[in-house]
Amino acid sequence: MDKFRIEGGHPLSGQLQVSGSKNSALPAIAACLLSEQPVVLHRIPRVRDIGTMLKLLEHNGATVEWLEGGALRITAAEIKNPEAPYEIVKTMRASSLVLGPLAARTGRAKVSMPGGCSIGARPINLHINGLEHLGAVVHQEHGDIEAVAEKGLRGNTVHFERITVTGTEDLMMAATLAEGTTVLENAAREPEVVDLANLLSKMGAQIEGAGTSRIRIEGVKKLRGAEHEIIADRIEAGTFVIAGVATGSEVVVSGCVPEHFASLLVKLRQAGARVEEAGTSVEVRPAGRLRSVDMTTEEHPGFATDLQAQFMALMTRATGISFITENIFENRFMHVPELARMGANIRIEGKQAIVAGPSTLTGAQVMCSDLRASASLVVAAMVAQGNSILDRVYHIDRGYESIEKKLAAAGANIERIG
Ligand code: EPU
Repeated sequence: MDKFRIEGGHPLSGQLQVSGSKNSALPAIAACLLSEQPVVLHRIPRVRDIGTMLKLLEHNGATVEWLEGGALRITAAEIKNPEAPYEIVKTMRASSLVLGPLAARTGRAKVSMPGGCSIGARPINLHINGLEHLGAVVHQEHGDIEAVAEKGLRGNTVHFERITVTGTEDLMMAATLAEGTTVLENAAREPEVVDLANLLSKMGAQIEGAGTSRIRIEGVKKLRGAEHEIIADRIEAGTFVIAGVATGSEVVVSGCVPEHFASLLVKLRQAGARVEEAGTSVEVRPAGRLRSVDMTTEEHPGFATDLQAQFMALMTRATGISFITENIFENRFMHVPELARMGANIRIEGKQAIVAGPSTLTGAQVMCSDLRASASLVVAAMVAQGNSILDRVYHIDRGYESIEKKLAAAGANIERIG
């Protein structure tokens, strides 16, 4: 199993280039199931979850070709197998994103029920409930969920009980081929939802309001092929900015949309960091000692849960007490005991982590438990004294494209070891 060895205390310099967004590319790939024609997607990050999603589409009958420069051509001329088997779903919960497209295209979709996940229970009841509102008959048996809409889906109003990102995406895709009008109320407003709506519109879908909490979709008979570039990964960008601030670096994070992670930049400035937006880049400059600030994760445009762990690693170095509240997932503090092994002083009380800083972190052997927890350990190891070994970095490979190569090229002392 691969590990990272990281020696702390090396500042970053130059540029860190951001890849395409994993969480935008995943629904975009699922959307290819909605058309018989080829869809070309640019700026697909080479990360493990994308490989898993492509395997799933091939299982459904699509052909997948990698083109020059990280682009993909996906053609779902015929859906041979509208199913997502357990072997694939168990490794990636975003597999449930094919439920809506398959039901819309073929009138039937069978997706293995995702089990628990390290960051929380993560049920998909809201996806199912939404499809039922669009006229699908859904039943669950032998660990599978089957949605059947023999005469096709019908538009309706779907009010999400709570905001769900992939639930919104799943239903938006389903509604593009439903008969009549669908209105999604209390929809997610994440940039990834907007990016998906832009792709679907290029494919001929009629969508209004993506990016607001009310999305209106007028169903059409068919969708056509299209070409689309995936947006920059705001979580990778935010991780790099945090790494730059933590290490007191002068570094430019480029090829991103700073507006997509504005809430992080606001918090960093409150903490005394020097971070400046410059078009599609964020410039990080060395600042004095950081102050502790409180932070609460929320749905977009609030502070992203996917940056909570990395921000916590930074707060261990700030002076004072920081209350970090996790509102989206019930078990997203798995990095805390690992940060504590490195010398952090953090107490968990329910959904709040209380970080007392500044702590002098020292390199240690630590375990990655999920994608973003791993990223926080990378940040911590980069500021710690001496060497750290991060075990189980396959978690980080799910969602960061060659993170060790990008950081090493910018001056970090990090290497992958077997
Ligand atoms: N929820 C339900 N029922 C549902 C769906 C969600 O109760 O049917 C709950 C979840 O358990 C959670 C909350 O609603 O407590 C929000 O979950 P959401 O559905 O928004 O999460 P998701 O769509 O499964 C996406 C990202 C996650 C990111 C969250 C929140 C993708 C592929 N995944 O997950 O990304 O943390 O939104 O922003 O887009 C990551 O990249 O590391 C990651 C976990």
